[in-house]
Amino acid sequence: MVSATSTPMAIDEIAPLHNLDEWEDDVLKRYPDPSSIAKEKSTEAYRNYEEPARDTVREFYRLNHKYQTYEFVSGKRDGFLKFDKKEMPVWDAFQFLNQLVDDSDPDTDLDQFQHLLQTSEAIRRDGHPDWMVLVGLIHDMGKVLCLFGEPQWAVVGDTFPVGCAYSDRIVYPEYFEFNPDNNDNRYNSPNGVYEPGCGLRNVHMSWGHDEYVYQMMKDYIPEPGLYMLRYHSFYSWHREGAYEHLLDDHDREMLKWVTLFNPYDLYSKNPTPPNWNELKPYYEALLKKYLPATLKF
Ligand SMILES: [Fe+2]
Ligand SMILES: [Fe+2]
Repeated sequence: MVSATSTPMAIDEIAPLHNLDEWEDDVLKRYPDPSSIAKEKSTEAYRNYEEPARDTVREFYRLNHKYQTYEFVSGKRDGFLKFDKKEMPVWDAFQFLNQLVDDSDPDTDLDQFQHLLQTSEAIRRDGHPDWMVLVGLIHDMGKVLCLFGEPQWAVVGDTFPVGCAYSDRIVYPEYFEFNPDNNDNRYNSPNGVYEPGCGLRNVHMSWGHDEYVYQMMKDYIPEPGLYMLRYHSFYSWHREGAYEHLLDDHDREMLKWVTLFNPYDLYSKNPTPPNWNELKPYYEALLKKYLPATLKF
């Protein structure tokens, strides 16, 4: 196990959720599929969502909001963006990711790879460019951070800028009260350490799978795809319109791509797995077109 966390943490602080999917189930509850509402078939989709899960999600956000400080993020960037932990062929990376299984409830959720494949297949069915299909296939690859011993709240969860005031449009904003940056004059003004309108490229986002996969892929994928990777969990921006004061024109232009991607991530889950044997040749060619033979973690 490799961890850039300096302080040892209790197990309930590392893994407040029964599994990572609890966070995504909660996002789906917040932003339900408009088409499933219209067809009144939402009950089945949310069958896993009950009150006990909600408590674990609250605890998850309490920890996330308390610990995601500017300094914490800087430490994680230093620790992980050297990509010196592991190198493996792309297909092995998917198998590695699939070691993240849900022990508590093995038969309710599809594995990580199925979520990726369902996302990419939904994008492909709608005729989007092949690099966007690739983004669908790899967008959650950064969740391997969990396999390096990282706490769940530093892998998944809504992301947000650090180093400036936390927006009240982030989910459970009341928990930022426990974040030391909230009382630190360097970090608690609207712009904090940033210049107004500096553009999101100059902003440090809370640490998690989005930032990690973006940094891993930034030399290989077209710019709109990189926005999809880096900001797919930045709901307070792409769904709630917060942080306008930090954006530049390029961010405003790219927002439409992030918004285009989000429903494929949230609403493509289906209990029937795609037929992998039929799809494999297409994806082998796609990965070969854009990515090197091995990926560095
Ligand atoms: Fe994700
Ligand atoms: Fe996802």
